[in-house]
Amino acid sequence: MNRLFFVIVLLHLSFTTAANFTQVFEWPDGMDFEWPSEVERTQALESGASEPDKIIEPHFMAVYRTRIFVSLQKSRRIPENGDCNKIEDATGLEVDTVGRMWVLDDGSLHCNSKLWIFDLSNNDKTNLIHHFPSSYYLHDLVLDETLNGYFAYIAQWGEEDIVVFGLERNQSWTVETPGIKLFSIALSPKDEPRQLYLSNLESNELFSISVTALHNGNLTANPKLIVKWTAVPYRMLMDNHGTMYAAFWKKNYIISWNINQPYQKRRIYEVEKLNTDWPFTFALDSSGTFWMTVFNKTGKKSSYRLLKAAVGEKPYYIRDCQTTADASQGKRQTDYSALIGSLAFFLVLSCTLNIWLTLRMRKSKNSNEKCNAGAVEKPTVQNPV
Ligand SMILES: *[C@@H]1O[C@H](CO)[C@@H](O)[C@H](O)[C@H]1NC(C)=O
Ligand SMILES: *[C@@H]1O[C@H](CO)[C@@H](O)[C@H](O)[C@H]1NC(C)=O
Ligand SMILES: *[C@@H]1O[C@H](CO)[C@@H](O)[C@H](O)[C@H]1NC(C)=O
Ligand SMILES: *[C@@H]1O[C@H](CO)[C@@H](O)[C@H](O)[C@H]1NC(C)=O
Repeated sequence: MNRLFFVIVLLHLSFTTAANFTQVFEWPDGMDFEWPSEVERTQALESGASEPDKIIEPHFMAVYRTRIFVSLQKSRRIPENGDCNKIEDATGLEVDTVGRMWVLDDGSLHCNSKLWIFDLSNNDKTNLIHHFPSSYYLHDLVLDETLNGYFAYIAQWGEEDIVVFGLERNQSWTVETPGIKLFSIALSPKDEPRQLYLSNLESNELFSISVTALHNGNLTANPKLIVKWTAVPYRMLMDNHGTMYAAFWKKNYIISWNINQPYQKRRIYEVEKLNTDWPFTFALDSSGTFWMTVFNKTGKKSSYRLLKAAVGEKPYYIRDCQTTADASQGKRQTDYSALIGSLAFFLVLSCTLNIWLTLRMRKSKNSNEKCNAGAVEKPTVQNPV
């Protein structure tokens, strides 16, 4: 199984009035990690442990204030280090209403799957690490804030099980979904009764189930068939008015559909060709901006773009009337951040190299930045928009 790296992108929020996507940043020559030294990079390349052009594939994204978090899948040829105290395989990222980021960690051959909670408003302090009883094949999570505390619902890739974690109880359990091999997962807005949406890996079917059925320990659930997509979505996301965004395996478009209305999908983004299995990652921020990466493998080199569009809708976890600290902070910033000012990247961890690596944005081939070990935030190029 491929391991994931985990990257944070820092940027200034910006706001536009147009619903159109605008490009925020581009990596035309691919991404590479910034190695501690050129010697180590050369060694890694020679040993075949790293192929910068092929290893980096964005998979999940979350946004909190001025920071974008992206998990990256890397080449299977990079060996596992078997350090269970590190994030090994980030297969889901979500931010909650109080500024915590939940990271789903699939684990490895040596380590069970885990769920990490970081406090982004308090120096990214680790609040909790939940160790699941075994190594699952986890794929994306959603967070449900209830009167009985937070629940995380997690899909197991290709398995007939939802994994549920109850924060208050500090316990996890599984709920069976007989006949439905799960893939992607989404949660309806906070209005009751809340529905969990599940896609089936082996068909184009979309199901839903009431979340109250998931709260009480080990059970069997019988999700209800909602609709048949035309493809299999690997990522679904809902806003706080019931619009579902979905991206599909090998498909070069993203659709949206208001789930409260008859099934009618709208392609909100479409390009001719990308040649990638997993072309997009996306997330909504609390000020109504839809952020997205586009991964393009049609040329000789992989290229990546970061785009945004003002859709005016907030993520599913924000109540309509709710004014979060986050949203008000966003408003305050509107005046002075009409444009993306600067970007900074740092790789939070590298499971294999056991050091912190900075992600290098290769704007030009002959960039000769000094490499740094350690947690480095690197202000970089001017806004290319
Ligand atoms: C997007 O931009 C194009 C060209 O600038 C414009 O014609 C179109 O109306 C815009 N669409 C929206 C939804 O704003
Ligand atoms: C949560 O449970 C785990 C065992 O599953 C334990 O190690 C950990 O200390 C608990 N955390 C809290 C905050 O209770
Ligand atoms: C669910 O089942 C597992 C295995 O049988 C058990 O260890 C766990 O305690 C159960 N969880 C709950 C919440 O009942
Ligand atoms: C993908 O990359 C190719 C080759 O560089 C380029 O011609 C094409 O315009 C790109 N497509 C998108 C949607 O960016």
